[in-house]
Amino acid sequence: MEGIAHTIKNLYKRSDSAAGAGMRCSPEPSGILMPIFTNWSSPPNELRLEHDAIHVWRASLDCDIGLLKRLEASLAPDEKSRAARYVFQRDRDHFIAARGILRTILGAYVHRPTANLRFTYGPEGKPALQLIGGEPSIRFNLSHSHGLAVYAFSNHREVGIDVEAIRRNIARDEIAGRVYSVPELAEFHALPLELKNKAFFLCWTRKEAYIKARGSGMGIPLDSFEVSLTPDQPEVLRSADSSRWTLRSLQPAPEYVGAVVGEGSDWVLRLWDWWNWELRYQA
Ligand SMILES: CC(C)(COP(=O)(O)OP(=O)(O)OC[C@H]1O[C@@H](n2cnc3c(N)ncnc32)[C@H](O)[C@@H]1OP(=O)(O)O)[C@@H](O)C(=O)NCCC(=O)NCCS
Repeated sequence: MEGIAHTIKNLYKRSDSAAGAGMRCSPEPSGILMPIFTNWSSPPNELRLEHDAIHVWRASLDCDIGLLKRLEASLAPDEKSRAARYVFQRDRDHFIAARGILRTILGAYVHRPTANLRFTYGPEGKPALQLIGGEPSIRFNLSHSHGLAVYAFSNHREVGIDVEAIRRNIARDEIAGRVYSVPELAEFHALPLELKNKAFFLCWTRKEAYIKARGSGMGIPLDSFEVSLTPDQPEVLRSADSSRWTLRSLQPAPEYVGAVVGEGSDWVLRLWDWWNWELRYQA
């Protein structure tokens, strides 16, 4: 697994050159389903979180040692102690990178030094930004899988995000049987074998993104809501409160799938690359 995220980074550096040559997608108007294969761009120097947008960032967590040290210096004492509890260095480094990168992006949005940012945690552990002297309007959520992190940021609307590397060495059918709802299982079983792996992770990430938007961990029965899972078909969320949310798919890298769920339907998705931006950013 060593270096996978770096490979992805290089792959996307190449695809960004193509984007620069005119292939870059602009955000789609609300209500139109964005294709799962989307391009990611370099963010502007001055970040502005529009009310009608959700910004999603992707980042490699395999940082060089100099960057990792800078990111680590921005962490709060509780984050440093949490990092120290990881048994394996790779997991520790990825946690430091994920939280450090979160701080660099949040700091740029709210114009605060990264080390001054404080987090509070919801009843099920969802982190939120604490600002002295007022309720922050910025909301965020993050997810990481196999060296790749995705972050969602929004203005006043709750968000949840999830990413997974598409893996083959998992007890796919058994897990699906335990955690997917009856309609999801029916859709899953009807698929040809070659689509099942991707469908499994599409379903997983869509369910997780919804759960995370609501700030719940195990609090929501997994069969109490449904998502669509057939690859290359529109993303659908059916839940008791589905009119409150919009679900969108992401593909942050080859062999990864992701999903974001945001409050309301009057928003567009903007996709930013951290690894271009961090070169300009001083943590
Ligand atoms: C926290 C939880 C919601 C997601 O965790 P995960 O998928 O293992 O990991 P991810 O990388 O996607 O997300 C972890 C991040 O989500 C955030 N998070 C933690 N608790 C959260 C919550 N209750 N709601 C939203 N976000 C949360 C944190 O930032 C965390 O990362 P950090 O602590 O390193 O900063 C998960 O632990 C959980 O409880 N899931 C239960 C649902 C389930 O069983 N799903 C099966 C698939 S359908």
